[in-house]
Amino acid sequence: MSTKILVLGRDGQLGFELRRSLAPLGNVTAVGKSECDLTYPLQLARLVRREKPDVIVNAAALTSVERAEEDVVRAMRINGEAAGELAALAASRSALIVHYSSDYVFDGAKPDPYVESDRPAPLNAYGRSKLAGERAVRAMNPAHLVFRTSWIYGVFGSSFLRSVLMALRQPEPLRVVSDQRGAPTGAAFIADVTALAVARYLHGGAGFPFGLYHLAAAGHASWHEYACYVAEQARIAGLPITLTPADIQPVPSSEYPSTARRPLNSCLDTGLLERQFGIHAPPWRDGVRHALAAMAGSRNLA
Ligand SMILES: NC(=O)c1ccc[n+]([C@@H]2O[C@H](COP(=O)([O-])OP(=O)(O)OC[C@H]3O[C@@H](n4cnc5c(N)ncnc54)[C@H](OP(=O)(O)O)[C@@H]3O)[C@@H](O)[C@H]2O)c1
Repeated sequence: MSTKILVLGRDGQLGFELRRSLAPLGNVTAVGKSECDLTYPLQLARLVRREKPDVIVNAAALTSVERAEEDVVRAMRINGEAAGELAALAASRSALIVHYSSDYVFDGAKPDPYVESDRPAPLNAYGRSKLAGERAVRAMNPAHLVFRTSWIYGVFGSSFLRSVLMALRQPEPLRVVSDQRGAPTGAAFIADVTALAVARYLHGGAGFPFGLYHLAAAGHASWHEYACYVAEQARIAGLPITLTPADIQPVPSSEYPSTARRPLNSCLDTGLLERQFGIHAPPWRDGVRHALAAMAGSRNLA
């Protein structure tokens, strides 16, 4: 009998890539919000009862930092409570739960990249809800993998990278925050690492290293440096943009209107993941270049 893998968050950036990366490992069922809304515990229970998964991968979340700030209860329900309920449902079937958390569980005050044992201290409602979720998953099911990741972009879906690409088509210069640092991380890379870890779990053997891991591309940049790199590489890839890096003005967070505070340092140390799983984190620029080339390629085919 082939392994049954249930993916939640089918239509998100990561969900899209997980459908691809997990496909060689078994029978993948991916569901979106219309089939299972994490707001409702009964829908989760019904889904798990129906699918009888061996592995549950939860890529569904309320990911808008602003929306989380506006609706704290909803953010806590989806990102916190539902994550714990899914982990408990997985545990009831002796299934593995894979869940994703965020760099925003930290306050960004540390000068160096964060390691897994650093004390979380979220600055905003999104970060608090993600922290509640990762804690609930770890408490409800010892057979868990929680990946804290950062600054996700994909070829599809909404992300900073895609917003910048849209803005680079307009005539007006851009203002981009220059005092927050992190690692832009491709959804495809996160999905590939997830598949490698799940494959090892399915292969069996004692001593599987369940736990919490930092998962991000190597190196770091400010949002401003990231936007400039996108402008430079989008032009090389042949994407239709009008602005150049010189048109992108750096601004401090204090000058950028937002309802939520964000950490200045979002860098995650991935040493533990490298040691336990032999994963090599590629430089963030490689992934961004690849995604832009894919976007340009699909335009050429269109
Ligand atoms: N994006 C980032 O920069 C980032 C950084 C660090 C960690 N993460 C974490 O990584 C994971 C994947 O993120 P992503 O970038 O792939 O997010 P995404 O593109 O926003 O996808 C999230 C998906 O979850 C769905 N969803 C939202 N509310 C739901 C609900 N009540 N019930 C069922 N589905 C619901 C969304 O559907 P709708 O669009 O229809 O609402 C969307 O398809 C999340 O756990 C996120 O918190 C993301």
